[in-house]
Amino acid sequence: RKQQRKKICEMNKIAARYFHKNLYAPEGKKALEYLRGRGIDDRIIKTFGMGFAKDGWDHLMKLLAEKGYTKQDMQAAGLIKMSEGKSYDMFRNRAMIPIINAFGDIIGFGGRVMDDGVPKYLNSPETAAFNKSRNLYNLNLIRRQKNLSHLILVEGYMDVIALFSYGIPECVATLGTALTQDQARMMKRYTDHVYISYDGDAAGQKATLRALGILSQEGIETRVVVIPDGQDPDEYLKKYGRDGYIKLMKTSLPEMDYRFGVTAAKYELSDSHQKEKFAKECANLLKKVESAVTKEKYAKKLSDMTGYSPESILQDAGGLRRETE
Ligand code: UTP
Ligand code: MN
Ligand code: MN
Ligand code: MN
Ligand code: MN
Repeated sequence: RKQQRKKICEMNKIAARYFHKNLYAPEGKKALEYLRGRGIDDRIIKTFGMGFAKDGWDHLMKLLAEKGYTKQDMQAAGLIKMSEGKSYDMFRNRAMIPIINAFGDIIGFGGRVMDDGVPKYLNSPETAAFNKSRNLYNLNLIRRQKNLSHLILVEGYMDVIALFSYGIPECVATLGTALTQDQARMMKRYTDHVYISYDGDAAGQKATLRALGILSQEGIETRVVVIPDGQDPDEYLKKYGRDGYIKLMKTSLPEMDYRFGVTAAKYELSDSHQKEKFAKECANLLKKVESAVTKEKYAKKLSDMTGYSPESILQDAGGLRRETE
């Protein structure tokens, strides 16, 4: 198995070099223009090892065959697909982003279409080398930074790349799947302060609520960076620059404030019945708060929002002690 993993990473390395070279060949002009159009310059392309998979069915397959790899090897690496006895390159006509683990091995790829095609991103399948739930994008670069005071968790590869190019390199992304407990544990090895900076749309909000639960289970202190108008970090940085994003980080919300805000948006607080439901739902959220001081602080906040006394809110929240589940 270890042998197989090594072989897959070797093939991926050959593929990544080939994709990178393609980007600067005449056929890669369109891809290079696409990346540059997104503000990605040669330095960033190099740092992230980006490339281009040419259009065609067997460019990579031929190259790997020349190097002595079998089709079985290529399929095990997720670099080719086989169906009904025919085989073809997995990635065709896409801008390529290698996914590199903390040890510097290329474990897989994300490939982006350069137009409105679907799927927008095609990711390598799970292989002996690529476990999506136990890796994070950008760990290889994070690892070199000592004493990280925090990490920023984003949804997409392009968000990481944008943050990096704006001088905010302390960020990671999940690999096209929802955040897992394993990934939270990995983050905890680097820091216990995480900013969740998911896309500012409904899907991002839902994913944020989920991530809050997972991260806090690992004892990580979280803050939520709320991005307006459904934008993502990449889009926001392009509009408002580094300073704009840093400002958003400064106004980021602690977990409970964010949860109260999301809950408040569901209710019409001028209606007394809905206000009551809101207060009960928030008191319920407070049950999990460990510190009595923190609980009191939020009970007061809820009291200001609703007019109910902090005492009755605290009582609904199970008193000053944490409720163990
Ligand atoms: P987004 O659609 O928000 O991607 O999905 P993005 O990074 O902002 O993409 P750009 O800016 O349009 O290029 C977030 C992440 O979800 C995964 C990818 O990992 C992506 O970075 N995803 C998305 C897929 O795996 N497949 C898809 O078709 C779409
Ligand atoms: Mn601290
Ligand atoms: Mn999205
Ligand atoms: Mn996005
Ligand atoms: Mn985006």
